[in-house]
Amino acid sequence: MIDRIHHVGIAVRDLDKALDFYRDVLGLHVHAMDTVEDQGVRAALLTIGESEIELLEPTSPEANMAKFIERKGEGLHHICFNTPDVDGDLEVLKDKGVELVDQKSRVGLAGMICFLHPKASRGVLVELATTMENYRG
Ligand code: CO
Repeated sequence: MIDRIHHVGIAVRDLDKALDFYRDVLGLHVHAMDTVEDQGVRAALLTIGESEIELLEPTSPEANMAKFIERKGEGLHHICFNTPDVDGDLEVLKDKGVELVDQKSRVGLAGMICFLHPKASRGVLVELATTMENYRG
């Protein structure tokens, strides 16, 4: 089961402008940057100790991330918990009747990931992730 916060996801309108603060002012190291087509985001992961900050910029006005920013503005989007076994945890959560966004894990920037429905966690979108080094699926 989950053992630490893997990253905090932050919705931003402009990734490069966000990096001006998180990378250049705070001095955090960008260790991954990629466009995740199926999520409609261009994302960067910045290391902060054992955890990370994930900056998420919508790739188009139709992307879910763009709609999120329209509704709520820039800011906290989700919290990701690290787990050694994302698939095993998903099965446990299904057995417990937890509402899920993803029925199966899929590839994300942080490794194999899935999202739980915010209804399950009192309004906070929760992601679970198993890094590729640890994934045994
Ligand atoms: Co994330």
